Amino acid sequence: MDQQTIRALCAADMTAVNELILARLQSDVSLINQLGFYIVSAGGKRMRPMLTVMAARALGYEGEDHLKLAAIIEFIHTSTLLHDDVVDESDLRRGRATANAAFGNAASVLVGDFLYSRAFQLMVELESMTVQKVLADTTNRIAEGEVLQLLHVRNPDTDEAAYLRVIERKTAVLFAAATQLGGHLAGLGAAGEKALFDYGMALGYAFQIADDVLDYAGDAATLGKNLGDDLAEGKATLPLIHAMAHSAPDVQARLKQIVVDGEASGFGEVMAAIAACGSLEYSRAVAQGYADAAIDALAALPDSEAKAALAGLAQYALQRAH
Ligand code: IPE
Ligand code: IPE
Ligand code: MG
Ligand code: MG
Repeated sequence: MDQQTIRALCAADMTAVNELILARLQSDVSLINQLGFYIVSAGGKRMRPMLTVMAARALGYEGEDHLKLAAIIEFIHTSTLLHDDVVDESDLRRGRATANAAFGNAASVLVGDFLYSRAFQLMVELESMTVQKVLADTTNRIAEGEVLQLLHVRNPDTDEAAYLRVIERKTAVLFAAATQLGGHLAGLGAAGEKALFDYGMALGYAFQIADDVLDYAGDAATLGKNLGDDLAEGKATLPLIHAMAHSAPDVQARLKQIVVDGEASGFGEVMAAIAACGSLEYSRAVAQGYADAAIDALAALPDSEAKAALAGLAQYALQRAH
């Protein structure tokens, strides 16, 4: 199923989710409204809330709680972006200056906290202990993932296994919660919830690996983020990890030095090594393997348009240019 059809299928739900996000962003502290609106209105793909909505609909859910759940997931995601851009010292997000560049680090961190705790307020309104437990565990894992990644900054010995451990926590668990809980609302049994959890988890890995490929191979204007951010942060992601493992000793030593120094100006050298080793193709193939696993996990669910859309979103995670 193509992107346009998928978006059309959930257009009404997503309009409602966006209205809910804007309505629940409100605070009587003006900076919160200003900064919150700044990041929320910049767009974003709304991939995670779409997954929640689709997962619920795939199981024939007819209620309205999935809209609130989707908004909660997007609030959590947005708060992690506000914090992440401070930590990563990024200055471009969603095609505009990051909130930290426009409003400063302090405002970004604190409004990130507001969005995060607003998500928990909304969660309580759903009166579901399962939703609360899954999202409490998920947000805790995301925080672990970002800290784990911090420990690997400028570490030239970061290998593929360590990289995968980081992306499971910082990214994949939120995708898994988004889909599992969509199914939970629809009254799916444990086996079905597990299938949607597995789907979301595998999709999350694919999504983050594709993102890390785009950091080397994308187009900044389309991406809405600067290229080379990962390298400038001394963050070795899959393309560079693969190149470090497969380059001649002298090149390998140079790549490791670039990571240790977080040497942004080494981007050209890194690109050359990545090209020589086929590291982007390798990374795309690994991502494809996860997307395939995600689609396989859907086999446990009854066929429906929404299920076909979930399969289409797994492909989109890889083909996207932003
Ligand atoms: C960015 O997520 C952070 C990653 C996990 C790579 P998205 O690419 O979903 O960001 P938006 O919401 O569309 O801006
Ligand atoms: C995304 O981290 C994960 C979270 C925000 C938790 P990245 O640092 O890889 O994502 P971008 O490239 O800034 O979007
Ligand atoms: Mg970042
Ligand atoms: Mg990135």
